[in-house]
Amino acid sequence: MRRPRILTFAGSIRTGAYSAALAALAAKELARLDCEPVLISLADYPLPIYDADFEASDGVPSPAMRLRDQLALADGVFIVTPEYNAGLPPLLKNALDWASRAKGEGDAFKKPVYAIGSTSPGGLGGYRASMMLRQVLALGLGALVLAEQAMVAGAGSAFAENGDLKDERAQERLRALLSALIEQAALRSGLRA
Ligand SMILES: Cc1cc2nc3c(=O)[nH]c(=O)nc-3n(C[C@H](O)[C@H](O)[C@H](O)COP(=O)(O)O)c2cc1C
Repeated sequence: MRRPRILTFAGSIRTGAYSAALAALAAKELARLDCEPVLISLADYPLPIYDADFEASDGVPSPAMRLRDQLALADGVFIVTPEYNAGLPPLLKNALDWASRAKGEGDAFKKPVYAIGSTSPGGLGGYRASMMLRQVLALGLGALVLAEQAMVAGAGSAFAENGDLKDERAQERLRALLSALIEQAALRSGLRA
């Protein structure tokens, strides 16, 4: 039987982004677990700000179709969000909005199991953005989102040179979250009895 495919990406394309560091660490951890990890960057899915007039005249841009397909192909999705003004950064919200407009095989939001991560150089670890991401995914898009989530506060000094979290217990919690994501994704996709 195939292994569950777990897609990971961050809501920032900034050079040295903390959210991308957590997404990369998650992909590294996933590679040690029983799954097929896929790490993407939203830099490879450039999209205009959503505009219904643009969609009516030009249709859904191909990067949105490709992103939708990646989501629909996945059994589990781990999204790491930064926090902008207590909410989601526009890059991530826009990507999700466009992906929700794209049509294709499989349901990009109802098929995979989702898990949320967040990072912030501040003390709250992007908690408020993670709540908004949960609202968008669960209430807006009908996704199943794991209750557990990974939050990294003080992200400017949280990562070691090798990309691991300096706090071993935080890294263990991340590993536990990813294991739960794999397990739930496998169950939902019928890959485990
Ligand atoms: C417009 C803007 C708003 C921000 N608002 C918050 C905020 O509400 N809470 C927070 O913890 N950090 C906030 N920050 C700081 C970001 O957490 C910081 O820039 C972070 O590095 C961005 O994520 P990244 O490292 O993944 O690119 C804000 C940054 C910007 C540019």
